[in-house]
Amino acid sequence: MRWLGSSTVTEVVSRIKMPAPPKKMLDIGGSHGLYCVEFCRKYPALKATVLDWPIGLENAKITLTQEKDVAPQIDLFECDFENDDLPPEKYDFVFLGNIIHGLNEDANQVLFKKIANATASNSTIAILDQYSNVKGSPFVKGVASLIGWNLFLFAGGRAYDFDLVKKWLENHGFGSVALTHLSRSPGFSVITARKK
Ligand SMILES: C[S@@+](CC[C@H](N)C(=O)[O-])C[C@H]1O[C@@H](n2cnc3c(N)ncnc32)[C@H](O)[C@@H]1O
Repeated sequence: MRWLGSSTVTEVVSRIKMPAPPKKMLDIGGSHGLYCVEFCRKYPALKATVLDWPIGLENAKITLTQEKDVAPQIDLFECDFENDDLPPEKYDFVFLGNIIHGLNEDANQVLFKKIANATASNSTIAILDQYSNVKGSPFVKGVASLIGWNLFLFAGGRAYDFDLVKKWLENHGFGSVALTHLSRSPGFSVITARKK
């Protein structure tokens, strides 16, 4: 994931538009924490939290020893996001990188409810993942289908349909749902939405 993250992070950070510079970011299942690092570089007033199991946070600790300029902006929160509550804070930016494909529909909706409770009006959620039914060139569609099959066969997960994720978001108070395909990482896309 560190290798994959380091190849997508620059484009992800540059393509996600915020209504205002975010102040508090929660990176759910953030592992290596590379997304927190780059968002903190882009927004120097941002405080970011990497949330993960202890094994994931070990990765984040390595990153923080390497990225000393932004390390003071980033903290770590040990949590099982399926079984525990999220931190008792309000965030104005929540990032989910390669998380929803590993959860079933019910678990995703439970997580979205927790995120809705942890965010204030006008907050941004960004969901980097691989989606089915993507529009785009035959190459982009082919890569997305292959990734979906791989997730299903080898990782017990699935690539969700954009319209389904949009429905989950709208059910939990998010609007302005938009899909952006990464041009440098075909098959990967980011869904963004704004809390109403
Ligand atoms: C596929 S990796 C994604 C890492 C990173 N977000 C990225 O996009 O590169 C999934 C991460 O979620 C964490 N994770 C999965 N289920 C979790 C749970 N129930 N509670 C906390 N962390 C979890 C894993 O430890 C892992 O670090």
